[in-house]
Amino acid sequence: MKRIVFLTVAVFMTYHMIAQTPKYLNPQVPIEERISDALSRMTLQEKIKLVHAQSKFTSAGVPRLGIRQLNMDDGPHGVREELDWNEWKTANWTNDSIVAFPSLTCLAATWNPALASLYGHSVSEEFAFRGKDVMLGPGVNIQRTPLNGRAFEYMGEDPYLASEMVVPYIQAVQANGVGCCLKHFALNNQETDRFSVNVNVSERALREIYLPAFEQAVKRAHVWTIMGSYNLWQNVHCSQNDVLLNRILKQEWGFDGALVSDWNAVTDTWQAATGGLDIEMGTEGWGRKLNHPFTYDDYFLAQPFRELIQQGKLSEDVLNEKVRRVLRTIFRTSMNPQKVIGSQCSEAHFDACRQIAEEGIVLLKNSSSSQPLSGAGRKTPLLPLTPEKLAGLRVLIVGENATRSLTLGGGSSELKTLQEVSPFEALQQTIEEANKSLPSFERGSGVGLQGYTSGRALYDKVDEVDPAEQQRLHDEAIEQARQAHLIIYIGGMNKNHRQDCENGDREDYNLSFGQNQLIADLAALPAPMVVVTFGGNPYAMPWLNQVEALVHCWYLGSESGTALVNVLTGKVNPSGKLPVTFARQYEDYPYVKYGQEAYPGINKQVHYREGVFVGYRGFEKNKKRALFPFGYGLSYTTFRYGKPQVSSTAEGWQVEVDVTNTGSRDGKEVVQLYLGEEKPSAENPVKELRGFQKISLRSGETTTVRFTIARNSYQHWSETAHAWQPVAGNLKAYVCSSAEDVRGSVTFK
Ligand code: GLC
Repeated sequence: MKRIVFLTVAVFMTYHMIAQTPKYLNPQVPIEERISDALSRMTLQEKIKLVHAQSKFTSAGVPRLGIRQLNMDDGPHGVREELDWNEWKTANWTNDSIVAFPSLTCLAATWNPALASLYGHSVSEEFAFRGKDVMLGPGVNIQRTPLNGRAFEYMGEDPYLASEMVVPYIQAVQANGVGCCLKHFALNNQETDRFSVNVNVSERALREIYLPAFEQAVKRAHVWTIMGSYNLWQNVHCSQNDVLLNRILKQEWGFDGALVSDWNAVTDTWQAATGGLDIEMGTEGWGRKLNHPFTYDDYFLAQPFRELIQQGKLSEDVLNEKVRRVLRTIFRTSMNPQKVIGSQCSEAHFDACRQIAEEGIVLLKNSSSSQPLSGAGRKTPLLPLTPEKLAGLRVLIVGENATRSLTLGGGSSELKTLQEVSPFEALQQTIEEANKSLPSFERGSGVGLQGYTSGRALYDKVDEVDPAEQQRLHDEAIEQARQAHLIIYIGGMNKNHRQDCENGDREDYNLSFGQNQLIADLAALPAPMVVVTFGGNPYAMPWLNQVEALVHCWYLGSESGTALVNVLTGKVNPSGKLPVTFARQYEDYPYVKYGQEAYPGINKQVHYREGVFVGYRGFEKNKKRALFPFGYGLSYTTFRYGKPQVSSTAEGWQVEVDVTNTGSRDGKEVVQLYLGEEKPSAENPVKELRGFQKISLRSGETTTVRFTIARNSYQHWSETAHAWQPVAGNLKAYVCSSAEDVRGSVTFK
């Protein structure tokens, strides 16, 4: 009897509790019902507050109803240091030092989707732990020009590679209850005039090159928020562009999340209200004639929007649709009971950081030295620098990037990291262990103080050291190098203004600060030389034939030195492949021949005259050989490809190829599959990346790599039908080790 009474009371209490808990607060209730319930309880003013910022990096919730705000923060490579609630300046917190992960171009260079998942999982644990609901990243703008200041934040020149690497990253981030904010939608492919340039691009290039990574993120990763870009398309700013946001993103692709403006990207209430913007962020009052200090209530989607509704000029439904999307984002993140607690600066995160860095480093050249190191034969490639090779050597390390922080700078993706192992520190330890002596160091060239600080003051011009000082640094390095047995030069870009930094493109395809001359002068000395470069973009290498080895590192984050030294010493066999074409000369990039109007534009109008022929697509069409092609990267071992076989299946075709590790070391290879017409027509690229697999093979091991191609899956965008259409005629599948290294091909109907 007692048991029955107890159970009855318990059931009643539970029912009573559920009945008392409003639907919108009950995670058991389907999210769409929670949204409708919450919306029905909100006043007009509360709805308006949800669709614009309440601080630099948060948008409001509904305190009265217990609906939480959205805490957003930069950036794709780690959680930015806390900035002031209202100002672009650091908040000087003391618990916000984090793991700085490698740049996304480095992640793309791994060609390893499993590492994209590991990256997303790890970095979102840091966002969750810092109490953030939305990460302002990743970025997938296609690398059209090697001068783009923010290329280091993006995933290369090919939409298929960017798609395959960004989807697992987003899925892993959002599995932790943290939202991604995929950026910058769309056509933000340069920093020059980024707030005002109007992009003129063919419908086909838009659909086949610039939108696919965003489309795949929406359709396959169900990205929860997207950031509208500053620039214009069809003469309308992309953060308030009806065709781009309502027609394509929301109606055609079915995006159900919130479209967040870039910071200060909104310029007009009517366009923002009707053009598909859901949350207005970062608007600043300048130029607005107000008789009071600019406040969040003066935002375009604040009081001016409310007035349009109250005057009956806009239906409240327009506002309700935005509020639904914001509430959906809140219930998916800040009020998601499954959102993880996360962690910060854990060993697992540093390990993930190092592993991604190691697999993103690209070995571009590794030849034998005319003056072999002790313990090395005449034909032995200079790398890896094994302890035997290093024994007894006098090693000189030259270049500022050996010691300076490369996690600072770059703009909104700058990071305050708990630790950053520099290349010099890691090399010093390795060489001391092998030599019992320390390497010496020379700056060789210099850029003076870092021209930036946290927040917006980062766009100051870099104060280069004066020519006399530059010459002194150069001469000193040469003098020291005369005594060295091995020279390791560490340079490249450094995330200063115009050196891979937001709000400014590079001014020159060459490395800056006299590096070319310095590298050439060092290489002219007898000692063999390794060049290590950092940077998000390709650059000219007039000295390439004079150096024995070349390694490109993108930006490697907190474990920079450790990852680099693990590759240089052979503890890790490099397996990175280029996600972007390195041209011999700037003029070889496909858009350059069209002049200023093709980049950076004339009178704020830029024309993507090269159409779909971006990167390797253009090099192949123009019959230009790259210095180092898309998909290229060396290993300390070698791989042999068998003859590819094609067989038809119910879904379409299967292409298979045997790959053997023919070298003496275990290693990883990225087998790439490109598709094209058997007889390439003039308006189409010869071949385009449509598959890749990163395989790990022990020395002597053979594996069979299989690619499946679904019938009619290879499509182009028709500008007459305004739709995708399968490529007609026979197709050719190319099995490649890079875009210019075809190991075999098969044709099929
Ligand atoms: C910046 C960037 C954007 C960043 C935002 C917030 O201007 O364009 O990528 O997330 O503002 O810092």
